[in-house]
Amino acid sequence: MIRQSLKLRKTLTVLGIVSLFLLLFLILTRRNSGVHQRIEEEDIQKLDRDFNDLPKKDKLINMDMEDKMQQNSDNDGTKRELQEAKSRIDQLEKKIAILEGRVPQKYPEVKFLGYKERKRILVTGGAGFVGSHLVDVLMTQGHEVIVVDNFFTGRKRNVEHWFGHRNFEMIHHDIVNPLYVEADEIYHLASPASPPHYMQNPVKTIKTNTLGTINMLGLARRVGAKILIASTSEVYGDPMVHPQPESYWGHVNPIGPRACYDEGKRVAETLAYSYAKQEKVAVRVARIFNTYGPRMHVSDGRVVSNFIMQALQNLTITVYGNGKQTRSFCYVSDLVDGLLALMAANYTLPVNLGNPVENTIQEFAMIIKNQVPGCRSMVAKGAPVEDDPQRRRPDITVAKEHLHWEPKVSLQEGLQRTIDYFKEELSRTTFQNNQTYMNMKSQH
Ligand SMILES: NC(=O)c1ccc[n+]([C@@H]2O[C@H](COP(=O)([O-])OP(=O)(O)OC[C@H]3O[C@@H](n4cnc5c(N)ncnc54)[C@H](O)[C@@H]3O)[C@@H](O)[C@H]2O)c1
Repeated sequence: MIRQSLKLRKTLTVLGIVSLFLLLFLILTRRNSGVHQRIEEEDIQKLDRDFNDLPKKDKLINMDMEDKMQQNSDNDGTKRELQEAKSRIDQLEKKIAILEGRVPQKYPEVKFLGYKERKRILVTGGAGFVGSHLVDVLMTQGHEVIVVDNFFTGRKRNVEHWFGHRNFEMIHHDIVNPLYVEADEIYHLASPASPPHYMQNPVKTIKTNTLGTINMLGLARRVGAKILIASTSEVYGDPMVHPQPESYWGHVNPIGPRACYDEGKRVAETLAYSYAKQEKVAVRVARIFNTYGPRMHVSDGRVVSNFIMQALQNLTITVYGNGKQTRSFCYVSDLVDGLLALMAANYTLPVNLGNPVENTIQEFAMIIKNQVPGCRSMVAKGAPVEDDPQRRRPDITVAKEHLHWEPKVSLQEGLQRTIDYFKEELSRTTFQNNQTYMNMKSQH
């Protein structure tokens, strides 16, 4: 019995210990599950937070991406702009290259003149036919040259070989308006010279020769410059005296179609001598007869340009009237020599500058036809032109005596150089006037 009760006690003790362990285990596991729960809750809360944050992040990511895309498109835009700028620069560089091709880097040789010998010379109408040849000589002599021109009949091309030269200046200006420049000498040539040009705007022609001349004479007076006025054989009109000496007063129709030019030049001469008398201005007056040569307008309607253009294109050479009217033609380099000699001389009265070799217009048409190789043109007569002078030949006694000047270039030689120039003009792809000149009717 005692043994049984001891066994029972042992069993109870073991059970008690086991249940104690169990209890302890239960307590511990419950505690752990609480920890886990807390951990899980924290995780869930975190996930919640992350979840809530998720769109923001996406937004941020999106914004980031948008920024990057924006940056990319900005970069694309900048690239495009850069490319556009580059192609524009390329285009400009090409244009500059073309311009540099036209403006020669090397100028014609120019003499060096010391401070005392070098003059500042203004040439009005210096971009025209005669003016541009005069400019060439003055430049090569080493003077400083200012060209003033409104490009009515002149062209930049005539003087562009001097652009950029330190002795050369070009002013785009209409001399009907006052001009303020410094000059020692003025060659006043600005005026349309061929009938179609001066008849195109008769009022402007008169203004140029009167107001323009007053402005130039006023300038000469202000700066103390010597001034040469380019007058014309047209002051003799349709002459009753032949050949024409300077003493002949002329035979001009004051209301005819040529009057704007003829009378304009006569007033220009009157103004010159009025300024000389009243204001003590040193004046020179050149009465220029028909002049021809390279840089003449191909479409100016004058006999030389008309006939050469017609002959070069195998078109009918048109002689207006009976063809017996006479002209004498002076080559441009001879005229320029005469102008320089007159400016330098002490002689102050008008001087005829022209070539006294006289031809009828009919003869002249044949001379040109024969001088253009292979010319198949016919010479035909057209209706006479109103107020067309019948005889023109300068008496150059005064020029010979006072300027020691007379023309040197023969008609054949001068015509050859002129024909070569017109050929070149015709071959220029940009030349478009070769039809319009045909309509300009004159035997100037
Ligand atoms: N070439 C001849 O056979 C001839 C004959 C007699 C007289 N002239 C005289 O010689 C001068 C030059 O004649 P050209 O044959 O060289 O003529 P042109 O037409 O070739 O030159 C005249 C120049 O004067 C410029 N001009 C005209 N009006 C102007 C104005 N208001 N302001 C500024 N510039 C103006 C023109 O643009 C042109 O460059 C003219 O005065 C002309 O009357 C020439």
